Amino acid sequence: AAVDNAPAIVIGSGYGAAVAALRLGQAGIRTLVIEMGRLWNTAGSDGKVFCSTSAPDQRSMWFRTRTEAPLATFLWLDLVNKDIGRYPGVLDRVHYDHMSVYVGRGVGGGSLVNGGMAVTPPQSYFSEQFPGVDATEMYNTYFPRARTMLGVNTVDPTWFESTEWYKFTRTSRKAAANAGLKTTFVPNVYDFAYMQREAAGTATKSALAGEVIYGNNYGKKSLDKTYLAAALGTGNVTIHTLERVRAVQRAADGTYTLTADRIDVTGAVVETKQYSCTYLFLGGGSLGTTELLVRARETGALPALDASVGTGWGTNGNVMTGRANHIWDTVGANQATMPVMGIDDWANTSNPVFAEIAPLPMGLEHWISLYLAITKNPERASFTYDAATDSAKLGWTAAQSAVSVSMAKKLFDRINAANATIYRYDLFGGNKTFADDFCYHPLGGCVLGRATDNYGRVKGYPHLYITDGSLVPGSIGVNPFVTITALAERGMARILAEDTAP
Ligand code: FDA
Repeated sequence: AAVDNAPAIVIGSGYGAAVAALRLGQAGIRTLVIEMGRLWNTAGSDGKVFCSTSAPDQRSMWFRTRTEAPLATFLWLDLVNKDIGRYPGVLDRVHYDHMSVYVGRGVGGGSLVNGGMAVTPPQSYFSEQFPGVDATEMYNTYFPRARTMLGVNTVDPTWFESTEWYKFTRTSRKAAANAGLKTTFVPNVYDFAYMQREAAGTATKSALAGEVIYGNNYGKKSLDKTYLAAALGTGNVTIHTLERVRAVQRAADGTYTLTADRIDVTGAVVETKQYSCTYLFLGGGSLGTTELLVRARETGALPALDASVGTGWGTNGNVMTGRANHIWDTVGANQATMPVMGIDDWANTSNPVFAEIAPLPMGLEHWISLYLAITKNPERASFTYDAATDSAKLGWTAAQSAVSVSMAKKLFDRINAANATIYRYDLFGGNKTFADDFCYHPLGGCVLGRATDNYGRVKGYPHLYITDGSLVPGSIGVNPFVTITALAERGMARILAEDTAP
């Protein structure tokens, strides 16, 4: 087959990849981005790019015949999931033995499906996780750069206090305060000025129409509207979609060759393509990048990869839970899908937890306070290569999830005790009060300073780089995309200054 050449190739189009693409394009380097998902820019028959959460169709999930939403049931009824057609939908749930991981698929990666919470970690915890990184430089230069580029903004506190759309947050705040716990506003990349127009009835509703995990039609500054738009604007960046890279090799002359399967909307492989490049940037996310490299090492394609490739993976301590409020503590039938507040008990050294006050928009009053807790779970797991399926297997165990649950439980037991409330048993299946078998924040697998140097250069392979969440050592204590973006900015600044010819 013909080989397509580009000086630089970026695999994936999530946060790390988008930063790489923009900075390469600005440096005048012709760059090709290869993304396995589709470009989400054309409306379906309903006039919308993304389908709704309440009536999901084929656009919702990546090659499924039924949706697999995080909350499987409500009042023990399977009301949430729907049959759908197989299609390259925007949300994927990747199943391993004891953990499943939600990821975005499409141009923009996770930014298309996530809650938009744009949180900068406490500097002390960042330093604990990245002892080799100059934190002063990160907090003075790269975090601010990332926030500006991502379009981070904050909810107007006056509007927040009065709007029905954040009643659920105020009710959760009150319950936390009754337990002596601190809450804090968190920024977001959803345009809050747009949201206020939604509430006023002067703009088409998106965050106020339940949209989030299957994509937002309006208001959200996903990467296709920020970094990737700017990357394309340099004139040096091209994006190929519906192409999944499955193999990476290094040629005798030091260039990299890639094998990619181009699929159609049924998932059938319609072409197998070969690419060649001088500089290769891996931005397939924690799962995507780690799988590519574990496979490359174990099949002998890149045999000198460090033994730490595939290790140091964690869930950011993710665990979800719901509480039942008293009948007078309503949460509202109307809920915005963009979280704006967290319970911040990270400074509690005996049990550090940061819990996002999550929405549960159902269009009816249900008295549920939902949370996505981020716990300081020290457990880590490794990926191993399974030759039979040509894929990476994750060694995470149920006992490792139990560590997150016990930490979250300590916090929410306190809240329940102070408010005389109980957990909800009907949300996660099997009468479980904590959803401990999925996560939104996969981190690690190719940790900075172990699998790579201190800037993301892969050990043993010149001109091979990692820019995504696989660099983060399993935990960052807050929602991770601002950190992933800032680290990518830091790595790209160094790599472009030192590794590429002018
Ligand atoms: P990311 O996963 O974004 O991008 C990887 C891209 O590479 C994907 O588009 C994928 O299709 C593609 N790819 C992978 N392998 C490939 C291959 N072999 N060939 C071609 N393409 C390939 N975070 C946060 O900070 N605040 C929040 O509010 C939330 N909320 C949230 C909600 C939900 C539902 C999810 C699923 C996730 C979140 N997150 C979040 C997490 C956040 O979205 C996540 O940490 C980042 O998207 C990770 O960025 P990366 O650059 O690492 O990869």
